[in-house]
Amino acid sequence: MTQDELKALVGRAALEHVVPGQLVGVGTGSTVNHFIDALAGIKDRFPGAVSSSAASTERLRRHGIPVFEAGEVQRLPVYIDGADEIDHRGFMVKGGGAALTREKIVADLAQRFVCIADESKLVDRLGRYPLPVEVIAMAVSQVARRFAALGGSATVRADVITDNGHTLLDVRGLDIADPLAMEAEINQWPGVVTVGIFARHRASVCLLGTALGVRTLVF
Ligand code: A5P
Repeated sequence: MTQDELKALVGRAALEHVVPGQLVGVGTGSTVNHFIDALAGIKDRFPGAVSSSAASTERLRRHGIPVFEAGEVQRLPVYIDGADEIDHRGFMVKGGGAALTREKIVADLAQRFVCIADESKLVDRLGRYPLPVEVIAMAVSQVARRFAALGGSATVRADVITDNGHTLLDVRGLDIADPLAMEAEINQWPGVVTVGIFARHRASVCLLGTALGVRTLVF
């Protein structure tokens, strides 16, 4: 199976986690696009979605799935999203699609985070994938210097402004041995909007697409 077929496989498998009669939190990315397309087939079973990006909102609406603002909702039973990396504890790196801030906001509303990913995303240790960090433009150099002090090399993602109007850094060379501690530390830096480490908002479950089918990891 190709990587895209594995993404489609887990996108369909995630339908089982949609709670009938309840809103569903929807992430962003190519794996989630498969989930949204599958969701269209059961759209009469739930009232709508809370979306994590303009791109997902547009795709949901095109399928006729109502989209609600995060501010209208107090709690979601489940949030379904992809990842750039996930480790064996459910800690993730996210933001390859530049939607990390809204993803963390919607994930924070949810009781469960169901990660959908092809098997290439499962890692023993986070950090091979460049860490996305959304930053307010005036703080970019300052934040980049802080990453350099941790051994990381930050570059501005060219031609990308986030849905929130901010700059995105990609940081290479970090050793993310303790995702919870590193997320908390970077969150303190002035100018950082969101760091793409999802440790406090780690996955509860991961549906991993493999050549042998869907492997379910429970954390
Ligand atoms: C979007 O900002 C990301 O967090 C995505 O969830 C992540 O990049 C996974 O994307 P794919 O499903 O396209 O691999």
